[in-house]
Parts: sequence; C-alpha cells; structure tokens
Amino acid sequence: MSTFWSIWITVIVLGTVFGCVWLLWATRKGQAYDQETDQTTGHVYDGIEELDNPMPKWWLGLFLATCVFGLVYLMLYPGLGSYQGLLGWSQVGQYEDEIQRADARFGEVFARYAAVPIPELAKNDEAMRMGQRLFANNCSVCHGSAGRGSIGFPNLTDGVFNWGGSPEEIYQSIHAGRIGNMPARGLMPNMTATQVDQVVNYVLSLNGNRERDSAAAEAGKAVYAQACAACHGADAEGIAAMGAPNLRNNTWLYGSTYEWIEETVVHGRQNRMPAQSPRLSDDQIHVLAAYVYKLSFVR
Ligand code: HEC
Ligand code: HEC
Repeated sequence: MSTFWSIWITVIVLGTVFGCVWLLWATRKGQAYDQETDQTTGHVYDGIEELDNPMPKWWLGLFLATCVFGLVYLMLYPGLGSYQGLLGWSQVGQYEDEIQRADARFGEVFARYAAVPIPELAKNDEAMRMGQRLFANNCSVCHGSAGRGSIGFPNLTDGVFNWGGSPEEIYQSIHAGRIGNMPARGLMPNMTATQVDQVVNYVLSLNGNRERDSAAAEAGKAVYAQACAACHGADAEGIAAMGAPNLRNNTWLYGSTYEWIEETVVHGRQNRMPAQSPRLSDDQIHVLAAYVYKLSFVR
C-alpha cells in the first residue's frame, strides 16, 4: 500500500470514530439524565408527539464503549493503513502458526504409517480414512471427489495408469508431479491431412473396429510406426515412463470419438499434474499413494 492510501485510510477510520464521539457529545443536550421532561421536538405526526428526552445513559455508555473498543483494537491489530498493530498479528502469521500446530499434532500419526509398505497400508481402514480426507482437500478439485476424473484429468479408479500403477510410480506421480506432453502430429511435423485421417482410423481400429474406413486404418499402420510408436510403443500399449497412454485399451484421458483423437493428433496435448511435495509432507504423500493404490483396484 502506498503512503498516500495508508494515510487516506487512517484519516477516514479515525475521523469516523472521533466523528461518532463528537456527535454523541454534541447531541447530549446538556440535560440532566435522570430528569425526564415533557418537552417535545415540536413534531406532530397524526397526533403523535415526539418527546425530546436525552438517550438513556446505558445506551450512551454502550456507544462510547464501542468507540473505545474500536480505538484499542486499532492500536493492537492492523487496520490503520499499513500500520501493523502492537501485537504484530497477521493473517499469514496465524495461518503458519496453525499449520505448525497441526503438523506437530498429526505428524506423529502420519510418521507411524511411513514405515508400512503401500499395498499393506491400503488395507488399513484408519489410514484410508485419513487418505480420503487428504484426497478431498487436495486432489478432488481435479480428480473428482470419488477420484473418477473428467476430460484431461485421469480417472484414478479404473486401474489404468498412464504413468504406471505400481506403488512407487503412484507415489512419484503425486510427489514430483507429472508433465504429459504430446507434440502436434507426433514425430511427423509435416503430416498431411490424409495421413492424419489414416492414423486416427488406425487408432480407432485398435479399439474394437470402430474405424470409419478400414482401408485408411490399414494405411495408418505405417504412419503410426513412424510418427507415434516411439512414445506409445510399437504395439500401442503405451510407455509409462513418458506418460504416453495405451491406445488399445479403450480407456481415454480425452474423448474416444474420431473427432477427439483427430484433435489430439493435430494439436497435440500438454497436461500437468502439479507436484505435491511443496504442500504435503512425504508421510502424507505416502498415505495418499496408498489411498490411490486402493482406489485403483478394479472392482
Ligand atoms: C490441478 C489439478 C490437479 C490436482 C490438484 C491433482 N492432480 Fe493428479 N493429475 C492431474 C492431471 C492433469 C494429471 C494427468 C497428467 C498427465 O496427463 O500427464 C494427473 C495425474 C495424476 C496421477 C497419475 C495418473 C496416471 O494415469 O498415471 C496420479 C496418481 C494423481 N494425479 C494423483 C493425484 C493426487 C493423489 C492428488 C492430490 C494430492 C492430485 N493428483 C492432485 C491434475 C491434478
Ligand atoms: C513424444 C511422444 C509422443 C508422440 C510422438 C505421440 N504421442 Fe500421443 N501422447 C503422448 C502423451 C505423453 C500423451 C498424454 C498427454 C496428456 O497427458 O494429456 C499422448 C496422448 C495421446 C492420445 C490421447 C489418449 C487418451 O487417453 O485420451 C492419443 C489418441 C494419442 N496420443 C495418439 C497419438 C498418435 C496417433 C500419435 C502419432 C501421430 C502420437 N500420439 C504421437 C505422447 C506422444
């Protein structure tokens, strides 16, 4: 905040408080508080007259107490422009304090699970309840509250993992994050429209004869070998180390139609799972990895 705005706000805030005090003082009418009079303001509304008595003392006292409270508060806490307050309180400070207290309290609990291997931890109900809460707070915005994902966000419950479904690979996906990068037209930057059509038909043919044109699908095999196999594998079963999906299991990160696949081939895809290590402790990620591992058991 610049000095000008800081002063601007301070003047308005203090002006308002002292303005209220002045108003109470100025309208106190100099009357004795314990003497009610019959004096009226002179206004008559439909025969009803308005008495001109001072405010009750307790009420006046309450007003003044509020002003004093406000001034004391503004002295202790930030409120006057960029003045930090005598207590040095800040929202960020309070947040960090709470996180530290929570870490001290729950850290032990998570540490107890750190030594348990992930497949075994996945069978521990108490740990999985903690995993579910962590998932709801940190993952469900992208992967959905049940972990079923949506377009571009992987379903974590179908047993299909583009980056590998072993306990170590799942831990790694969460801990360090993942960047999925498919270049436009794969490894053939000057792929023609005909070749795009052929390779899309080929990919569809790998998933239950859903191609539009079987001759094109047949021709697409050669295009695939040149432009796609390096990442998706010669047999199109995907390569987990690159995050390149299996293209013959009819499970899709994006849509399954000709148009969706064509769009992926023509424009490529850039996708990112953010690393959780800056936000969560290794022990918390261990519990989460077990939770995702459990979710992925195909039911
Ligand atoms: C901002 C959105 C976002 C958040 C938050 C997020 N993810 Fe992800 N996650 C993604 C995306 C997008 C991918 C796919 C990356 C790719 O395509 O390469 C992904 C991939 C993954 C994978 C790998 C899936 C596979 O197919 O191999 C796992 C496991 C995973 N996330 C778990 C989690 C967990 C657990 C959390 C919570 C701690 C989490 N994610 C939070 C967006 C998110
Ligand atoms: C450099 C490696 C690379 C090459 C080459 C490549 N891909 Fe990909 N492809 C990927 C990656 C990585 C993804 C996942 C993108 C993401 O995480 O969003 C992907 C995703 C896809 C998808 C979406 C799958 C789904 O589950 O929805 C299709 C379809 C696809 N590729 C087809 C192709 C075809 C056809 C070619 C050849 C023309 C090709 N790819 C070439 C790496 C590659």
